[in-house]
Amino acid sequence: MAREKTKFVCQNCGYQTGKWLGKCPECESWNSLEEEREIVLPGQKTASLLSATPQLLWQVEFTREERGPIGISELDRVLGGGLVPGSLILVGGDPGIGKSTLMLQTTLLISSKGSNVLYWSGEESVQQIKMRANRLGEIPTTLYIQSETCLDNLPEILNEIKPSCLIVDSIQTIYRSDLTSAPGTISQVRDITAQLMRIAKQTGLVVFIVGHVTKEGNIAGPKMLEHMVDTVLYFEGDRHHNYRIIRAVKNRFGSTNEIGVFEMGAQGLIEVPNPSAMFLAERPLKEPGSAVTALLEGTRPILGEVQALVSNSNYQNPRRLATGFDHNRLSMLIAVLEKRLNVFMGNLDAYVNVAGGLKISEPAADLSVLLALASSIKEQAIDPKAILIGEVGLTGELRNVNRLEQRLKEAARLGFTRAIVPSGGSSIRVADLEIEVAKNVREAMVLAFKGG
Ligand code: TYD
Ligand code: MG
Repeated sequence: MAREKTKFVCQNCGYQTGKWLGKCPECESWNSLEEEREIVLPGQKTASLLSATPQLLWQVEFTREERGPIGISELDRVLGGGLVPGSLILVGGDPGIGKSTLMLQTTLLISSKGSNVLYWSGEESVQQIKMRANRLGEIPTTLYIQSETCLDNLPEILNEIKPSCLIVDSIQTIYRSDLTSAPGTISQVRDITAQLMRIAKQTGLVVFIVGHVTKEGNIAGPKMLEHMVDTVLYFEGDRHHNYRIIRAVKNRFGSTNEIGVFEMGAQGLIEVPNPSAMFLAERPLKEPGSAVTALLEGTRPILGEVQALVSNSNYQNPRRLATGFDHNRLSMLIAVLEKRLNVFMGNLDAYVNVAGGLKISEPAADLSVLLALASSIKEQAIDPKAILIGEVGLTGELRNVNRLEQRLKEAARLGFTRAIVPSGGSSIRVADLEIEVAKNVREAMVLAFKGG
């Protein structure tokens, strides 16, 4: 006999308890526990996903997994070269950032190669989707659209259409009626994802799940979902900038630090093959407070502009604000600036912004942030033809960064003629680029302001 079980589940982390609590003991978020009911059928077991019996590894036949490139090279790169049959991919991002657009573009391309594709939307009507698809390109005859929030008849539909790719947009809006909790709750999200995973593994179908990100920056039922799926892609960038970055934060079939860069245009997301040029497009030349550095995103060097503004403070505690750069790192660099370059900042506000909405997490950008601050204080521009690369240590020493040569080549390609770098640069030769080595921030500062 079926019996009903009531439980309270934290919608943030998935913690379960028998009674309601105001605060989740696991992730410490407030008011996140919701009542969910579950009908437990006797004898119901969780189905196993993969091979049922143990096999001897040496006997396992290995066929090279074939990857099918989608044809959007920025996306293929992030996926590690294309789609692996039977994989489950979670695509997360803020509302309105372009998830549905990218998914529709993907389905248009995959179905244009002749295989059936099913786009299951719980958010938009088929007319809305048609309208959007019309703008994005030719509509192949093998693309199916289903607009419904109840996923109950999915297995039958899959049997009938036999698609090679299924998109579920979005996981928060759809539900299964045998699960009694509301759409978007952690039980629904988890159980549907598990079902999709089973289907993917059993049939070789590629499944994309679209997930919204909550205010806190999580996909609802976040960590749990990330553990379940093969690949997690996140959309970055904000709606106020046209560019979008897609980053793989988990990938069972490839490297996780590749990014894809797109621009949102009238015809959907357009690939940006030359992101450095885009991020430097609006750079003011010969203005104090601007510095350029070379970052590494996966295997790709990207140039970015760091801006700093230092002004007299009207606050008792001066403000230190960083956008696109780590706040604690900024505090550290300000301390180095005060101590090693004798610049007193106690009564000055400091703002640092990475232009274009780019986010920097690499210490290689330290030197550019530090010298952008110094440049703003001195009201003196840094040489606009110079690129600044290097991690700054607490004694003010300039420390080496990985793959310096690649970064320098990108700088040369974009027309920079000077590079101020740590000692590792002394053995590197790049055509049309003068590589100047600095031992510490003091030396680097002297070099940077030459020609500024
Ligand atoms: P959407 O893909 O619906 O975002 P998400 O699914 O992540 O919520 O679309 C995001 C925005 O993109 C929307 O405000 C309209 C805009 N857009 C364009 O600028 N050009 C286009 O060709 C399309 C299809 C959308
Ligand atoms: Mg959408």
